[in-house]
Amino acid sequence: MRREPDEAGQAAGPGHVAIIMDGNGRWAQMRGRPRLFGHHAGARRVREIVEACPENGVKYLTIFAFSTENWKRTQVEVSGLMKLFQRYITKEARALSDVGVRVRFIGDRVRLNDKLVELMDNLEILTAHNDLVHLTIALNYGGRDEVARATKRLAQDVALGTLDPETIDEETLPRYLDTYVLPDPDLVIRTSGEARISNFLLWQSAYAEYEFIDTLWPDFTAEEFGRLARKYGARDRRFGAVKA
Ligand code: FPP
Repeated sequence: MRREPDEAGQAAGPGHVAIIMDGNGRWAQMRGRPRLFGHHAGARRVREIVEACPENGVKYLTIFAFSTENWKRTQVEVSGLMKLFQRYITKEARALSDVGVRVRFIGDRVRLNDKLVELMDNLEILTAHNDLVHLTIALNYGGRDEVARATKRLAQDVALGTLDPETIDEETLPRYLDTYVLPDPDLVIRTSGEARISNFLLWQSAYAEYEFIDTLWPDFTAEEFGRLARKYGARDRRFGAVKA
């Protein structure tokens, strides 16, 4: 939805931007470095983009950090990424909290190690009072997996008798998704030149606008983010209706 400046003076723009941060591996390979070098560079990009949100009218930013399919990568890369997430949360927690960022995580936590889950829980609690920018980090997240887990809980409520199947409509399932407190994304950006959505926010992005850009994630800047936000602002979204 196109947004006007709100009472807090937030500029008009895509209220919720979701980003598929792709291209870390190629960025590292181009420099003759291991893939994890690219992931570390990618992690350093995140803060600049989060900080650029308010001036671009972005209240919600959701980033794809690790997918349910990423476990298929080498053990070295997977364990390096898990360590990176732990370090990122430990190091960035205070800084994100101090600049007014509320952090949430989506995805299935069951397969993540206990220490990481504890850090995620603590960061959610630490930042729960913040409201300037809502940063959601998708970790062990897959859209199909999310819908399957949601359906399981929905079916349990039916079995318990707390949900009448006759009342199920398209407003019902989102209440069971990991994103139940978030608005749907207005704009989905994928870096690195690939035009795929790779199982990201499948249900939620039904009406999102998409931007597939060539920049590799570690080279993505606040300036480019701002350009895409302004381009979004000039678009005409009709949600299947005709123009009035
Ligand atoms: C895709 O690039 C990126 C990932 C699978 C990991 C994303 C992680 C980060 C950006 C860093 C950590 C983020 C946080 C929030 C701490 P790729 O490896 O598929 O790149 P390639 O397509 O060039 O191989």
